[in-house]
Amino acid sequence: MNNPKVNLPIGVFDSGIGGISVLADLIKTLPYEKFIYYADTLYSPYGIRPEDTVRSLSIKVAEFLSFIGIKSLVVACNTATSAAIYEIRRMYTFPVIGMEPAVKPAVKLGGKGKILVMATPLTLKSKKFHELMHSYKRFADIIPFPCEKLVEIIEQDHADRRVIEDYLSRVFSSIDKEHISTIVLGCTHYALIKKEILKIVGNNINVIDGNSGTARQVKTVLQKEHLLNNGMSGKLSYPLKANVRFYVSGNKKEVITTCKQLLQNEGIVCSGEFSLSHYS
Ligand code: DGL
Repeated sequence: MNNPKVNLPIGVFDSGIGGISVLADLIKTLPYEKFIYYADTLYSPYGIRPEDTVRSLSIKVAEFLSFIGIKSLVVACNTATSAAIYEIRRMYTFPVIGMEPAVKPAVKLGGKGKILVMATPLTLKSKKFHELMHSYKRFADIIPFPCEKLVEIIEQDHADRRVIEDYLSRVFSSIDKEHISTIVLGCTHYALIKKEILKIVGNNINVIDGNSGTARQVKTVLQKEHLLNNGMSGKLSYPLKANVRFYVSGNKKEVITTCKQLLQNEGIVCSGEFSLSHYS
């Protein structure tokens, strides 16, 4: 018998536009699903706030999405995951999937040099990250690399390559690139500027994120819980048409345009309804 919850959307949230990098992989992996994307732009960035503030903000968004009705929640933000994932999981019976810096895949790559983890100050300070680093420190030299202000720059100037590259050149000038084998993008915003990062650090360094791994994990979990929507036909047309409803806190309509544009850059056209939230 079909589970009636199969037709509910999957909720995805981030402090801003960063989670769109995860949503793009989710849409490619789960093309028959409906999505609700929540950007908490009013309170962005999360990564420089106290942990308990980020926990309350994340719980509020989860409550909002759960009230609308979702079959699963993807916390498409490393910072919110490190601050609130256990509490959110305890609150709901639907599957809640979070992000964590892709240290394990980086170790598996087995490069000769150090692993640099770019993330927000809060993610790198968190207990969750310290436990992760502790589990892999036998296998590699892991260097936390907090990138203060980078989320703000991406929110404001994601399309201005010069501003992004200036910032990256400045922060990477203090790093001895010769000794780095892999850079982990431990913030979903940074995946949006992967090209610029590669340009600054060079192609000899692997630059990885956890987005496709998270999308595969969501699929596995939905399958296991009999919540996966397989669609009516096996045929997909390209560009992919995605059914996404957007909510943005702080009444910032232009954020929805940016989100749609970023998905379009990934070959995804949004065909769903669009909403705007005044939730604050
Ligand atoms: N995209 C969020 C992350 O993955 C950014 C957090 C922030 O708003 O500082 O950590």
